[in-house]
Amino acid sequence: MKVCIVGASGKLGHYMVRHALDRGYEVVGVCRERSVGKLDEFKDRITVVQGATNNREVIKRAVAGCDGVLVVLVPWGVQQYSSGTAQAVLDQARPGARLMFSCGWHINRDGQDVYSASFKGLTRVFGWVARLFRVADIDDQVEACRRVFESDTRWTVVRGSDLEEGESQGLPVWSRHIDDPILESNITRRIDFALFMVEALENDALVQEAPAIVGCQTPSALAHAVAVSSGE
Ligand SMILES: NC(=O)c1ccc[n+]([C@@H]2O[C@H](COP(=O)([O-])OP(=O)(O)OC[C@H]3O[C@@H](n4cnc5c(N)ncnc54)[C@H](OP(=O)(O)O)[C@@H]3O)[C@@H](O)[C@H]2O)c1
Repeated sequence: MKVCIVGASGKLGHYMVRHALDRGYEVVGVCRERSVGKLDEFKDRITVVQGATNNREVIKRAVAGCDGVLVVLVPWGVQQYSSGTAQAVLDQARPGARLMFSCGWHINRDGQDVYSASFKGLTRVFGWVARLFRVADIDDQVEACRRVFESDTRWTVVRGSDLEEGESQGLPVWSRHIDDPILESNITRRIDFALFMVEALENDALVQEAPAIVGCQTPSALAHAVAVSSGE
């Protein structure tokens, strides 16, 4: 399998490169010119395409011949970086390729996610402050995902909980809706977020799904596993 990782130089991107190489995949990484040095540890093992990830020519070159594209969707900046990146991938990836997009729980696919008041408050405040200082545009990440949801490609939008560093605990568990008790712990190891993204490449059950994930060893995931095994 040949995969392209868009945003390979970031934290999530690094983990995805490692998981993909561990599986023996051929890897093409896309990152901004100034960040190429961050991929030095993979020198000689991956191909790096430099440039802005919302540049259609950059993405066209990077995804050529790829069976899967893993996209780190970030809201940084106020120049439609997220939606431009998603659109470029949707338009340039080969028909039939698996497309994986990362985002957070704030993305709501079908309007049926029920958020806590504190989650909604924090998202609103972050969005407002980030736009005021022109650091990030959460609405553009929402727009990016809206375009993905409307596309008839083989996409999966993986919605991450709060993240932490640490050793892998295994493949995260997921649900279609945020208020599912299985997600209550709201924490996932970043290495396992990346694992879920890479594993989803070969999981057709996740095509056109927007799984919200949580660590498989968190209290809420373990409580769910106990309830299932005791037939509750
Ligand atoms: N962090 C969290 O707590 C959290 C929670 C839930 C979901 N998520 C999701 O997880 C994914 C990535 O998370 P992460 O924490 O691993 O991110 P990260 O390491 O900060 O990576 C962010 C990516 O954004 C790029 N980037 C940074 N600043 C930029 C700018 N001003 N303009 C354009 N690109 C810029 C980075 O590229 P360079 O290497 O070139 O800087 C890198 O590829 C995102 O999809 C996010 O929505 C994160």
